[in-house]
Amino acid sequence: MKKSILFISLVFFCLNTSAQKFIQLAKTPPMGWNSWNKYGCNVSDTLIMGMADAMLSSGMKDAGYEYIVIDDCWQISRDENGEIVADKDRFPQGIKYVADYVHSKGLKFGIYSCAGNKTCAGRPGALGHEYQDARTYARWGVDYYKEDWCNTGTQDAKSSYSNMRDALFAAGRPIVFSLCEWGSNKPWEWAGEVGHLWRTTGDIVDTWNIMIGIFDQEKGLAKYAGPGHWNDPDMLEVGNGGMTNEEYKTHFSLWCMLAAPLIAGNDLQNMTQETKSILLNKEIIALDQDTLGKQGFCYRDNGDYEIWIKALSNGEKAACLLNRGDETKSLLVDFDLLLNAKDDYWTSDKYKIENYKVRDLWEHKYLTVKGMSKAVDIAPHSVKVYRFIKK
Ligand code: GLA
Repeated sequence: MKKSILFISLVFFCLNTSAQKFIQLAKTPPMGWNSWNKYGCNVSDTLIMGMADAMLSSGMKDAGYEYIVIDDCWQISRDENGEIVADKDRFPQGIKYVADYVHSKGLKFGIYSCAGNKTCAGRPGALGHEYQDARTYARWGVDYYKEDWCNTGTQDAKSSYSNMRDALFAAGRPIVFSLCEWGSNKPWEWAGEVGHLWRTTGDIVDTWNIMIGIFDQEKGLAKYAGPGHWNDPDMLEVGNGGMTNEEYKTHFSLWCMLAAPLIAGNDLQNMTQETKSILLNKEIIALDQDTLGKQGFCYRDNGDYEIWIKALSNGEKAACLLNRGDETKSLLVDFDLLLNAKDDYWTSDKYKIENYKVRDLWEHKYLTVKGMSKAVDIAPHSVKVYRFIKK
């Protein structure tokens, strides 16, 4: 009897510690860079290594970005043993060489494949090679693995991705697992035990309408996210040219309110000052990376005007006021109301506004709030982001 209790406790202990280790890999939403949004299939070792250099020289690494991820098109075939083969023209020294370079910069390295037999760009997929590929990636030093969902036919998403998770575990290297099945099978309901992040929608495109349309689909998903498992509304388009700087500020703020993975998708080697001031806004990034790990929720939806609230550690909070319309919005903002905004799954006591300072995270200034309200103008397609900071 005693022996069996000991055995069961041991099993629980092991399960617990491996679950803990799994969570540790993405205690806060992953931050990095991925080749797809800007470069598509045009990837090469010089591009990837150049981005690793730029990650350091631009200050991105200091701001918390750590993964450099090669998306589709690095792979070209499988050899006679079924081993995945990199495109020799683009990666003449192989993938491990690039991974080693990325590591030598103090960064982490990520790679892409697909759960089907072919990737979305028609390159060899992982189907039937999961364990073999996981071992290869572990040998190359992969730290982050994104798996797509093209050409999967009748495959079941949960079992396909669980199989790959087991393969990654078996390969023995800690690897962040990014599921990319576009929200087709409601991954938020099952992927928390399978991977660290899961796409919730189709692909982002560098336009205001598509970006805000993706954002709309995140409503109601907050309760599924937390340390080790994040909703992923897709990678960032900041700096890619299809939106105004004001819209990019909004895009970035909204992603941070959502505790979304922050995977930049622009040319890090040639960033304007405006792009840098967005991607490197540490006060906004701090909302995303807050250790409480709560995704923000929509507190008020008044059509063109929305209020989003995010709980932060240490009893602090962030509020994002979003003007989706084409005209400036002039508002009287009630900060006491924002501070005490609740979602139905929160059980918090009343917060006292007099115990907090209010900071504007784009102006980088504390507000002087006389009484509890303040007149505020919000430009079209723009946001105001406030943090309630304990005095
Ligand atoms: C899908 C994914 C994208 C990207 C491409 C690559 O569309 O959703 O993020 O990885 O495939 O082909």
